[in-house]
Amino acid sequence: MCGVVGYIGSKEAAPILIDGLQRLEYRGYDSAGIAVLNGSKITSRKEVGRLANLEKMLAADPVKGTRGIGHTRWATHGAPSQINSHPHSSSDGSIAVVHNGIIENYAELRDELSAKGHKFLSETDTEVVPHLIEQSLKDGAKSPVEAIQRTLKRLRGAYALGILFRTEPDAIYCARKGSPLIIGLGEKENFIASDVPAIINRIKKAIYLNDGEMAVVRADSVEICTMEGVAVTPVIKEISFKAEAAECAGFETFMLKEIHEQPRILRAMLEKHVSADGKIDIGSDLKPDYFRKLNRIMIVSCGTAYHAGMYGKLLLENLTGIAVETDLASEFRYRDPKIDPGTLIIPVSQSGETADTLASIRMAKEWGCKILAICNVEGSSVVRESDAVFFTNCGPEIGVASTKAYTAQLMAFALFSLYVAGVRGNLTPEQIKSYLADLQEVPDAVHYVIQKKDEIQAISEKHHDGPSSLYLGRKFNYPTALEGALKNKEISYQHAEGYAAGEMKHGPIALINDALPVICICTKTSDEVYEKMLSNIKEVEARSGRIIAVATEGDTEIAKLAGDIIYVPEVRDEFTPIVNVVGLQLLAYYAARARGTDIDKPRNLAKSVTVE
Ligand code: M6R
Repeated sequence: MCGVVGYIGSKEAAPILIDGLQRLEYRGYDSAGIAVLNGSKITSRKEVGRLANLEKMLAADPVKGTRGIGHTRWATHGAPSQINSHPHSSSDGSIAVVHNGIIENYAELRDELSAKGHKFLSETDTEVVPHLIEQSLKDGAKSPVEAIQRTLKRLRGAYALGILFRTEPDAIYCARKGSPLIIGLGEKENFIASDVPAIINRIKKAIYLNDGEMAVVRADSVEICTMEGVAVTPVIKEISFKAEAAECAGFETFMLKEIHEQPRILRAMLEKHVSADGKIDIGSDLKPDYFRKLNRIMIVSCGTAYHAGMYGKLLLENLTGIAVETDLASEFRYRDPKIDPGTLIIPVSQSGETADTLASIRMAKEWGCKILAICNVEGSSVVRESDAVFFTNCGPEIGVASTKAYTAQLMAFALFSLYVAGVRGNLTPEQIKSYLADLQEVPDAVHYVIQKKDEIQAISEKHHDGPSSLYLGRKFNYPTALEGALKNKEISYQHAEGYAAGEMKHGPIALINDALPVICICTKTSDEVYEKMLSNIKEVEARSGRIIAVATEGDTEIAKLAGDIIYVPEVRDEFTPIVNVVGLQLLAYYAARARGTDIDKPRNLAKSVTVE
């Protein structure tokens, strides 16, 4: 979604803003703009399309000044166009604003302001903000801070705002509610940004603004207060990852880099959470006794994180006997799920900023539930609003298509399920040790699959050109089928359906012909569903479907049925999804490459979906 960046210091602002916006490109955008303050003059430049277009414009017509704000826009209100791009200005051009989020009551505010003579140029919701600030000053607000506070009180919806005033050459202003915003602290220079990667090369410390707070950021100071004017003492956090973590490191894309990082991340998670004597520490403030008494869990999340939640449900039910439900956060928040305070809510989120997931947390808190998040981003809204957090610690995930965050979420569920099974006595310490020994094999198995990338690429190149593909899996690998299909459609734009294989006869079998690639996840272990998967594959074969199997190394049975096979090492049933999905990530990756799409920034998608 939209990206916000701001700078104040002694260096030229424009190149710093552009660099920050480039680092935010992964969030998805369709136009970009900056506003730079020089003395008492604000100059804006905006352009549609890639940042390179804005850079070209700036090269032809540079802007000078050492304070500024910048924005990448992901259109919600009004098409991508120069006029709809941010920054937006007040009628007299004295105030410039960039905004991430949605102002829900913008229509009524616009009518009210229009009646007072304000002229609007764009179709955006954002444009009401500079006009409201301007009006507040006209109505007697004694300072920019007071004008912003009066304005914030009128806004409904979500916002991270960066604001410049022509009259205030030594400050940039920012505010947040619902959309993330950080203040990066440098040496005699400070920054604002939607997230850390935008400015990671420039800072080591940051302040995470809380909802309902605003700040006056100067080159050598930061003052924070609430929208009611109560001063807030800033909490300064060290940034825990290095700039290189947000760089491509020689890989052709971030997604490929992130796929390759998975074995290391999974190993690190095991090292962090499992002691030498086989004890699991989930790093949570919730005490063992809480889990002993627990009788219901509700997992809420979106997209890939929802698939991780589906896996979590299967594993938790299997190992702990607790009743577990999982739901899409966007559905959960509008249903009546009959949750009591004894239910543990597990939101799963890479970014920690997904609007529907956050809304679900807030609802569940009103019902008195405890929240244990599985999340990747420290300081994110999900982290701050939860009672306890299991961090996936994979470093910044820049590719829009989630890969390493997904396998880390699966690993988090594996460790959490074993921990809960241990404290509740569902598994003996010996059984847990045996599970953990098998889990320790997973990172190497993932590495093995990645090593087969050339073979997987060859398979992808045979099948990428059709209009559609079908992914089938059962039990633990039903979520894998959904995730494989999601990866494929996200980055290769080939339509893909994920299905529970047992459902095939109830509809999708009608799609099967010799042009349809059917990706069957059929790893052979002791699992009861292996035979069932074989029967499903035979049904596909009988209808001339193109079978691509994900199968266990050494499985000769499958070789008689499948045209192409991605062989993976054998791991325990329960952990096969962590290994199998990596084959599907690579399959999608090379299909996208063959189809020539923008893999890290697929069309229309945003990395973190901060609006409903
Ligand atoms: O940041 P979150 O994990 O909350 O994001 C949830 C989804 O938006 C995300 O997983 C999305 O589906 C990805 N593009 C999947 O690759």
